[in-house]
Amino acid sequence: MAQGKITVIVGPMYSGKTSELLSYAEIYKLGKKRYQIFKPIIDNRYRLQEIRSHSGMKESAIPIAHSADAERYITDEKAIFFDEVQFFDRDLADVVKRIRHLGKDVICAGLDMSFKENPFETTALLLCLADVVIKKRAVCHECGEYNGIITYKYVDNESEIDVGGFDKYFAVCLDCYHKLTQQ
Ligand code: ADP
Ligand code: TMP
Ligand code: MG
Ligand code: ZN
Repeated sequence: MAQGKITVIVGPMYSGKTSELLSYAEIYKLGKKRYQIFKPIIDNRYRLQEIRSHSGMKESAIPIAHSADAERYITDEKAIFFDEVQFFDRDLADVVKRIRHLGKDVICAGLDMSFKENPFETTALLLCLADVVIKKRAVCHECGEYNGIITYKYVDNESEIDVGGFDKYFAVCLDCYHKLTQQ
């Protein structure tokens, strides 16, 4: 049996990670191959049983509290998707390895860095396992260049786990990030 392939999509907020994940899902759909999308239950930005891009694309997803919970739902799918992987426990790396050994493809998307420029550990572990890494960029909110690689948080809340959108965060390039954080 051929082993599955692991694809990891990373980048700052608004860089198109969820859109890219949904494009991959469409490829399986067009090929009439079954797939399942999982999301962390903590992500309550939209309806609980769906993932949604900032441009409004959406798909149904199963919300789970622990990454190992995903394995209880897996049956005969050809591909398994995880969005917002930065919010999952680090066991996700082992879960993904086991799924790959079942011959299923795994596509993961999530933030690589917090607004404090710290790597998210679960994303980092997945990057090590990946066959394919896709690093996305956003348009910098400050200078307008297409080189936004980090997220800036403009509300007074130091937590690196803090669900939100335009109400708290924008994407910036590193030069603009440096200027903003030096102020
Ligand atoms: P992510 O999951 O990485 O946050 P999404 O796939 O949900 O990204 O959203 C990408 C969409 O966000 C883009 O197609 C665009 O419509 C919108 N968007 C809003 N702000 C920006 C930005 N600064 N740079 C790029 N896209 C942006
Ligand atoms: P997105 O990448 O799909 O836009 O979603 C990122 C989510 O992660 C969003 O709910 C905000 C949250 N977040 C954090 O919890 N900590 C952070 O440091 C950053 C940048 C985002
Ligand atoms: Mg997203
Ligand atoms: Zn900039």
